[in-house]
Amino acid sequence: MTVSNPTPLTSDADWWRSAVVYQVYVRSFADSNGDGIGDLQGIRERLPYLRDLGIDALWLTPFYTSPMIDGGYDVADYRDVDPMFGTLADFDHMITDAHALGLRIIVDLVPNHTSSAHPWFQAALAAGPGSAERERYLFADGKGEQGELPPNDWESIFGGPAWTRLDDGQWYLHLFDPAQPDLNWRHPQVRAEFEDVLRFWLDRGVDGFRIDVAHGMIKADGLPDVGFNSMTTGQRQSELLGKGRLPYFDQDEVHDIYRAWRPILDSYPGGRMAVAEAWAETPQRLARYIGPDELHQAFSFDFLDATWSADSFRKVVDTALAESTIVGAPTTWVLSNHDRQRHVTRYGDGAEGLRRARAAALLMLALPGCAYVYQGEELGLPEVLDLPDELRQDPAFLRIGESRDGCRVPIPWSGELAPYGFGPEGSELSWLPAPATWRDLSVAAQTGVPGSTLELYRTALRIRRAHPALAITGGITWLETEPGLLAFSRTAGDAVLTCVVNLSGVPALVDGYGEPIVASQALTGQDAGHLLPVDAAAWFERR
Ligand code: BGC
Ligand code: MG
Repeated sequence: MTVSNPTPLTSDADWWRSAVVYQVYVRSFADSNGDGIGDLQGIRERLPYLRDLGIDALWLTPFYTSPMIDGGYDVADYRDVDPMFGTLADFDHMITDAHALGLRIIVDLVPNHTSSAHPWFQAALAAGPGSAERERYLFADGKGEQGELPPNDWESIFGGPAWTRLDDGQWYLHLFDPAQPDLNWRHPQVRAEFEDVLRFWLDRGVDGFRIDVAHGMIKADGLPDVGFNSMTTGQRQSELLGKGRLPYFDQDEVHDIYRAWRPILDSYPGGRMAVAEAWAETPQRLARYIGPDELHQAFSFDFLDATWSADSFRKVVDTALAESTIVGAPTTWVLSNHDRQRHVTRYGDGAEGLRRARAAALLMLALPGCAYVYQGEELGLPEVLDLPDELRQDPAFLRIGESRDGCRVPIPWSGELAPYGFGPEGSELSWLPAPATWRDLSVAAQTGVPGSTLELYRTALRIRRAHPALAITGGITWLETEPGLLAFSRTAGDAVLTCVVNLSGVPALVDGYGEPIVASQALTGQDAGHLLPVDAAAWFERR
């Protein structure tokens, strides 16, 4: 088959419908100045790597001015770059270079809450109870005789009450850390401010936004109790994420916000998009975030959460495809991100986890729609499970002992010693230590090595770009198989591409699908027919 070079940036307004977006956790991607912290200039220097990998766009996690209590998801200035990551000029250089290489840039927007260091929150603290300044956040008086009890039973996602009391007696709401006060999205100034922030970054050339906690901005009227929490019944309210309704998530009114944003995005040329990090009770409610008058995409966390079985994946894929077809938006697949245990480890860790992760990559990249790749998954990185507690920085670790640091360890680029080329030549610093086993997983160690995970991703992404059956949007055709296998085809004219995944626990005969063009493990049994090993996937082509 023919393989084309990455295409330069075109103004195709629908680029996001089938894009592969690479998530950069800025702090851990590449450090240009040797301070042990990834930065914008580091990203800029590594853009050729991403171009060669074959992705279409980068999503950058927050790099804005921040006290970094929650890794930058606590923003103190939405229009500036934190000195830790560089300057606005660095951003401009980075995006210019990215566009020249044909790569689009998506930035993270954090509208549910600001940092407590944000000038608005500082003004609210100074102005006191009853002030106009407090109306931009969710301040309330407490319950109990002296107002000594929180206004309701809401719980922070990071554990503990979602309310903190100030010395003046009032409480304020923070669905995450106390350093992340929730904004009042019924306040016109809040709405106007974020519309302006959108324009600020659109004017700087960004191609899209990832909307943080997109389901959270509107809280139910009257701030009603949930009815239980870990203090009363031992069940954490966050266990309802994606399964049930909470008065602080997925309220109908939140959609007004996106209906106001969409015309702003549409008023810029080149297909500016937004992807929702949204949690909703059902796939149907999730689909309400996407479509022609709201956001362009919403991550399918059901895909990420699917267990390693054919039934589980098939169900999730069918539901997501059906829902997105109804609303005319692409499906949005994701296996890992900066909040979740890396999928190598989720699928069993070690050799088994890696085998499955590689197969899952071929499954995801063969599906229609958009796919998000989290930095390092192309290297087959596992979760780092044994970070010393004193190095962990996730605020959730201090509150509930859960830490997301293990998926945020800096990327190994090259060399024999940690931090494996994360910083400039000779730099020994990295904000989290990489394990010794990562020497063999570095970009340099895998480049050009047949069968490496990096080369598997490169090959799959190259085929995905070039193959007519994968280039088109549209559905899939499931093929009948033995139990425990997944097999589906995508067709464009005479070209048929079939993806087969073996989750059955025994090698599977895979004849009749055409020529194998990429496999997560080498096929065996050439004489008696092709055998797909356990936990492997392969793509077959017929023209
Ligand atoms: C982000 C997290 C962050 C939280 C609060 C999430 O959905 O992905 O990393 O801690 O929002 O902003
Ligand atoms: Mg740095």
